Amino acid sequence: MCGIVGYIGSQNATPIILDGLGRLEYRGYDSAGVAVIHDGQISLRRDVGKLINLRRRVEADPIYGSIGIGHTRWATHGVPAERNAHPHISMDGEYVVVHNGIVENYLELKDELAAEGVEFKSETDTEVIVHLIERFAQNGANHNLTEATRKAVQLLRGAHAIVVMSRRQPDELVAVRIGNAGGVALGLGEGENFVASDIPAILEHTRRMIFLETRQMATVSATAYRVQTLDGQPLQPEIHDIAWDPVSAAKGEFKHFMQKEIFEQARSITDTIRGRVDFERGEALLADLNLTPEKAQALTRLVTVACGTSYYSGLVGKFYIEHMARLNVEVDYGSEYRYRDPIIDERSAVLAITQSGETVDTLAAMEEAHQKQATLWSIVNSMGSQAMRISDGYLTMNAGPEIGVASTKAFTASIVDQYLLGLYLGQLRGTLTLEQRRQYAYDLGRLPDLVGRTLEAEPKIKALAGQLYHYTDFLFLGRGINYPIALEGALKLKEISYIHAEGYPAGEMKHGPIALIDEDMPVVCIALKDNLYEKMISQIEQAKARGGVVIAIATEGDTFIQTKADHVLYVPETAPLLSPVVAVIPLQMLAYHIAVWRGADVDQPRNLAKSVTVE
Ligand code: AGP
Repeated sequence: MCGIVGYIGSQNATPIILDGLGRLEYRGYDSAGVAVIHDGQISLRRDVGKLINLRRRVEADPIYGSIGIGHTRWATHGVPAERNAHPHISMDGEYVVVHNGIVENYLELKDELAAEGVEFKSETDTEVIVHLIERFAQNGANHNLTEATRKAVQLLRGAHAIVVMSRRQPDELVAVRIGNAGGVALGLGEGENFVASDIPAILEHTRRMIFLETRQMATVSATAYRVQTLDGQPLQPEIHDIAWDPVSAAKGEFKHFMQKEIFEQARSITDTIRGRVDFERGEALLADLNLTPEKAQALTRLVTVACGTSYYSGLVGKFYIEHMARLNVEVDYGSEYRYRDPIIDERSAVLAITQSGETVDTLAAMEEAHQKQATLWSIVNSMGSQAMRISDGYLTMNAGPEIGVASTKAFTASIVDQYLLGLYLGQLRGTLTLEQRRQYAYDLGRLPDLVGRTLEAEPKIKALAGQLYHYTDFLFLGRGINYPIALEGALKLKEISYIHAEGYPAGEMKHGPIALIDEDMPVVCIALKDNLYEKMISQIEQAKARGGVVIAIATEGDTFIQTKADHVLYVPETAPLLSPVVAVIPLQMLAYHIAVWRGADVDQPRNLAKSVTVE
């Protein structure tokens, strides 16, 4: 997904923009560019490939200005090339634009503009935007940037995040958000202001942020801003104070963001729990859900919608909410949900789990639920994100910025959030005794320490990865509440190491997939000392009988399993419901170290983006 950074103030915009784009690199891109205005002139530098190429170009031919915009592009229309990189500039050289999203009607607009004599310099859809702004600036907007931009974007179909500037009006930036093509955040500084597509890009400069909602636009100067709807209604949006610290958006002593975020999980889970549990009364405190006991008791079903890792988190949460609150839970992919004409109504709740809060498939599923009058909840990590704003109630993950494309701490945080939700619903629906509630609360309170102990196994896991990284196919097997962890372990491995891996319910192996197993197929089995242990031991024996290399995730103290598996990775004994949180950690570390052994680009895997805002 593309990244946007804009600056207006008294400093040189160029380094601020380049550093901000550097904090958005995790979003995936293939070219980048920056434009600034100085003495009435627009200076533009763009390049393909990584940001370092653009930095070198700027160093070789510096540009200065107190207002500027920059962009990292993830190509949709037009190959990765300098001419297709943003910013794009108008024919008269007056206007320059950066854009996230897709202009779905760009071909007809391009034909129309070409017929008016516009000469296109790129194959992008974005370029039509800057030419439309030029057209309206000259006809009907009297060169007013805000008005020309307003008229131009009214013609666009699709979802967009746009930032524009003009050398005629070098004292303001104009930003627009339409639909869900990633966010538009305004950062409010002292004598300077910022615009960005995501919080980490500008967090070191300011914590005070405004998030545009769909069909809103902002005009931003160095010392002021005004926000309005696209049809001109003035707005007074909330100013959020972002609690994230800038350090947490940096790698620190770790080699990759992913490794750092794996190791943050004891702290991030502590932050997820903090202030939300009354351990004495055994109660979850979830005021942001805006839920009354009557409403909770009237619910007849919950549908969880999510994508990727967040979907697997939902599969774990199903166990919590059904077990604690006796509420039926379905879990569905965001990308599938809206096509099955779901049977929901005002007695249903729909829970969206989304780290970014901007995943377009999940947002579409939320829209479907809203139209059918279901109560809409979300579990999000990104403050001010679209999913959070359109929900009737929400639970934040409080995991801090997750920069690595492969989700780790957000995954475990979203599982803990669902545990809290299950406890909360159980309280309100009266399905749990005080004793049960206190036990669940106590179990949760022990989790950060157990996670911390699990992380200590990294050296052994790194060594094991050195024995496994050459394999080309893996199976991950689990049962019950740890079947979703088998799915997640497989996804972690495939998305950062590019090794083919499949997660499977262990009981399904005999129905076909066991034919796959031989000495070239490592099998990772989650075999904790729970009610399914014996079945998993049997599974391990079946895999070994076929020559498979078996890596077992086992409970500390279980020496018997060493007689069965080739390799054993231990996790501390944990309450069964919370065992997925510790079981996933060795799988995260195994995937990470195998990818490192393979020299893969761990934080920015090929073809992937941190937040998928295109269908
Ligand atoms: C997980 O490691 C992947 N990055 C991907 O599956 C991700 O979980 C999915 O795209 C959903 O993202 P979201 O939680 O931001 O909606």
